[in-house]
Amino acid sequence: MKDIEQQISELMAKMTLDQKAGQITQPEREFITPADVKKYHIGSILSGGGSVPGDNKPDDWIKMNDEYWAASMEEDEDHLAIPIIYGVDAIHGNTNVIGSVVFPHNIGLGAAHDPDLIERIAAVTAKEITATGVDWTFAPTLAVARNSHWGRTYESYSENPKIVTEYAPRFVKGLQGDFQEDKVIACVKHWVGDGATLHGIDQGDMCISEEELRKLHVPPYKAAIDAGVLTVMVSLSSWFGEKCHGHKFLITDLLKKELGFDGFVVSDWDGIDYLNDDYEEAVVMSMNAGMDMFMVTEKWREFIGHIKTSVENGRIPMERLDDAVRRILRVKYKFGMFTKPRPAQRKMSLQNSCFGCLEHREVAREAVQKSLVMLKNDNDILPLDKNSRILVAGKNAHNRGHQCGGFTVAWQGVNDNETVASSSYSDKDTVSERDTDIEASYDTSNSKIVGGTSIWESIQKVAPNAVLCIDGRDADPGKQDVAIVVIGEVPYAEMLGDIRVEGLAKGLKISKGSTSRDTLPGEDIPIMKKGPYGTHLYLHQLHPEDIETIRRITSKGIPVVTVMICGRPLVVTQELDASQAFVVAWFPGSEGQGVADVIFGDMDIQGKLSFSWPRYDDENLNVGDENYDPLFHYGYGLEYKK
Ligand code: GLC
Repeated sequence: MKDIEQQISELMAKMTLDQKAGQITQPEREFITPADVKKYHIGSILSGGGSVPGDNKPDDWIKMNDEYWAASMEEDEDHLAIPIIYGVDAIHGNTNVIGSVVFPHNIGLGAAHDPDLIERIAAVTAKEITATGVDWTFAPTLAVARNSHWGRTYESYSENPKIVTEYAPRFVKGLQGDFQEDKVIACVKHWVGDGATLHGIDQGDMCISEEELRKLHVPPYKAAIDAGVLTVMVSLSSWFGEKCHGHKFLITDLLKKELGFDGFVVSDWDGIDYLNDDYEEAVVMSMNAGMDMFMVTEKWREFIGHIKTSVENGRIPMERLDDAVRRILRVKYKFGMFTKPRPAQRKMSLQNSCFGCLEHREVAREAVQKSLVMLKNDNDILPLDKNSRILVAGKNAHNRGHQCGGFTVAWQGVNDNETVASSSYSDKDTVSERDTDIEASYDTSNSKIVGGTSIWESIQKVAPNAVLCIDGRDADPGKQDVAIVVIGEVPYAEMLGDIRVEGLAKGLKISKGSTSRDTLPGEDIPIMKKGPYGTHLYLHQLHPEDIETIRRITSKGIPVVTVMICGRPLVVTQELDASQAFVVAWFPGSEGQGVADVIFGDMDIQGKLSFSWPRYDDENLNVGDENYDPLFHYGYGLEYKK
């Protein structure tokens, strides 16, 4: 058997410049057909968040992948059979697809402090990805998030690199295994220091020393590389104003040479666009910095043209292009792509009954149980008695979309009831208008999250005397002994979830969106945000309906147990003070049952904070800082009295 490098050399000896240029190109599915795949010799395709085929069921995905794969393998005098690889953001389950198991987002998994569980989650995720004919996921995120204003904090396991470094190899192993048929290619991201930007501005500027970079943000990647991760995605952020997408030291010298990474490096979403207003120059900069595959979602034809021109005129050395192609082919050979059957004939496609199955959901339920963190439990009110007369309230009590967070069915996540978008809260002038809006719309029969349970549904299953009243108006001490109020954030993703401190971030280069540009001193950075998110971490102002609901109930003399859905620590002093107990559930995903298991004591509460919890908005403390004195320290979490 020829070794892989020999097979690659023999194949590359046959490849034309066109075929090499196509192999390093990754368009988004909406902008490419199977015929294009063959004509332009495309090496990979992706689905952006929420970009789904047909009715978005596993068979629709298998059909789509099979068509793309078949086109890539249709060899003739102009085209060499090199199998395409398809990539998705399966970052907490294969959650683009309707009916998948939705795991807690990473911030909750960090609170679980369970590396074995992480590997099992990754293995289930890989099964649910291969059940749809897909080969590659852009996960795990290895961000060490250092500022909770960042809209992607929930994609980070911890502010502490120790946890992220412990989890990285386990998640990679769970996804990739030994490249069996129920395994996928992993992609650690975003290289490097995406969670370290000034003020937590997404795709912003990381202004830290190389020493701090190496101490806090590189170790998780080294652990993943030592575990054999096959791909790395570069960050859209910058380091002292230089974009990572064009950073030769970071990509070539540090990642490839010093850390010995021999897989391939992929750009993030049109990330090279922001290197230079001249697109050809941007292409040359990124290629020569060491980028191997280019996520060029729409203008991939133009990209291919610039690659060919720049190689022909010597601005890109042929050796660099060959190195990129070799790395991509190495991953495809290592992963067995050349010998796998076509997607429609693969075992995991033919037997995809495991997709969303109960066995997989039990792993997610365990993850929810272990991720919950109790910040307060006055008079040991928790765990509750299942036979208590319970009022369940709060906008997040019965909304599977909200409890799943971003990157779920849609890029920005879903609301089970479209009429109640997060921005409606701030649009409404009075509580009654808001609550009526909420009350009227909570029919989750049209839920886009198929499978699993909302937190209300999970309570209803075990507590015969529980009733639901979202706004708490039915609170009556003659009828209820205690209330569970589920509050917090609504789904968001990437920069749309950023909380930008007013007036900051002037003069910074922004990225993503239409074009990159400098913001002039004094000019506000155009804050792309969603709903109420804006300029601080104060929940009582981001979502006033929450404290209003809690107080509406406590004013009737009914004690409140608050459960908060969120993607990051928030300033919740008022909500804490008004609650007798307070549990953080993060974005728990589809298996709300895990919350009920703990609230009623079927499972102990064991989660410990993997992020420091602030007492005011810009108290941005991380474990290890001088004068470290947050409201709740890293590792905090109450347990039930034995
Ligand atoms: C996004 C994200 C990245 C994701 C990619 C593909 O911009 O930054 O995490 O993998 O695009 O959806």
